[in-house]
Amino acid sequence: MKKNILVARRVFDSVLERLRVHFEVEPNQDDLIWSKAELIARLQGKDGAFITASERIDAELLDACPQLRAVCNMAVGYNNIDLDACTARGVLASNTPDVLTETTADFGFALMMAAARRMAEGEHFLRRGEWDKWAVDLLAGSDIHGTTLGLLGMGRIGRAIAKRGALGFGMQVIYHNRSRLAPELEQESGARYVSKEALLQQSDHLLLVLPYSPAVHHVIGAAEIALMKPTATLTNIARGGVVDEVALAEALSKHQIAAAGLDVFEGEPAVNPVLLTLPNIVLTPHIASATVKTRLAMADLAADNLIAVLTGGVPPTPLNGQVLQPGLA
Ligand code: DGY
Repeated sequence: MKKNILVARRVFDSVLERLRVHFEVEPNQDDLIWSKAELIARLQGKDGAFITASERIDAELLDACPQLRAVCNMAVGYNNIDLDACTARGVLASNTPDVLTETTADFGFALMMAAARRMAEGEHFLRRGEWDKWAVDLLAGSDIHGTTLGLLGMGRIGRAIAKRGALGFGMQVIYHNRSRLAPELEQESGARYVSKEALLQQSDHLLLVLPYSPAVHHVIGAAEIALMKPTATLTNIARGGVVDEVALAEALSKHQIAAAGLDVFEGEPAVNPVLLTLPNIVLTPHIASATVKTRLAMADLAADNLIAVLTGGVPPTPLNGQVLQPGLA
């Protein structure tokens, strides 16, 4: 008899077809956003769940869904999953690393450039019909090439961005991370390790690419922004919670830094209304990994994990693989 799974959000038809070969699938092709209670209700009698970063998997949900054996996230970030709670209950969790690295790095770089070169501001100005003449200082921004790129966080995506900066744009690349990279990885990325304080003080363009956890909540707040150059830009493609948005809005409105680019927000999809009023910020709706090819690869990888776990195979990208080895969980 086939096992039962829930696919919590709309997904590509080809991925649903693959899942249907192995499972009885409850899909959500209308892409409804369920409350926690609704999600729990849908998960009754399900052995696995295909989820995205929008679904929160915590101890309460797991206790209410005792049949659940696998939660496979279509995202590399997994701050939506309480991993310890999964491990304690023998539930395999997985994410989708690697397949989105270059796409996400492209976007982070583009968002940084858009903020520095005032692209969104210029577009809005033009669309409003305010462009009536060329002017020497019209929307003059700051250079990318030859400047200092700072990376807070230096995982796969950070390293891919570092390479773009160092090799493509002749940038000095500095980074700060929980742990320093091995010398060969530093060399390959063209990046130099500095303290967090030096990173904030020296970066012309600061990019946030660290994984979210409560330990890094508001790791960039008023005190950190105060250390940055008044000409600097700040770009966040990590998770909204790493930036204190109220402090950022205040700093941007007082021109304490030049500009910002945000793809992620603390209460997304809600956006702090003050941010919406500021001209010197580029705002995008959590789309850093959103190319058709990459989203398909992410969905396929999440499906691969689900299929493997529930059919006795080896999941390609588990987060707590020890639950599959009795005695180690
Ligand atoms: C990720 O993969 O973590 C992206 O931010 C999408 O949620």
